[in-house]
Amino acid sequence: MNKTLAIIKPDGVANGLIGEIIKRIEQEGLKIIGMRMTQLDRRQAEGFYYVHRSRPFFHSLIEYMTSGPVVLMVLKGPNAIDRWRTLMGATDPRKADPGTIRAEMGLNIERNVVHGSDSGDSAMYEINYFFKGSDLVE
Ligand code: CMP
Repeated sequence: MNKTLAIIKPDGVANGLIGEIIKRIEQEGLKIIGMRMTQLDRRQAEGFYYVHRSRPFFHSLIEYMTSGPVVLMVLKGPNAIDRWRTLMGATDPRKADPGTIRAEMGLNIERNVVHGSDSGDSAMYEINYFFKGSDLVE
């Protein structure tokens, strides 16, 4: 059993994709144990993506992630981190496997619809960044 943080990014919410993405998560058999809609402010987005702070795309990423509402979710299940990453597909929608969320719905390498934690350590950081233990229904 492990947990991962999933985000439906501003393009996913703006383009009416919340239901389709949640349907895929549930069909995969992952349990949603926390969920909240919010609009990130600059400080929250910069803290969340601090590992990317020196990358050339950082400023643009922060503008994008604060541009509209997002849906934050905690997913739980056997191998949840890898299973959610498989459902999402590669970061760049052009390189994502056919049938994945990013291949079908992503606009470009930045506006790629969804986020998922990439390791156990980052999942712990990312879940605790947005959720208190009492927010999760286990
Ligand atoms: P995500 O999986 O949320 O992690 C970091 C995000 O930065 C990534 O999805 C994209 O939204 C964005 N990103 C990653 N690489 C690039 C890039 N080369 N150019 C622009 N944005 C990027």
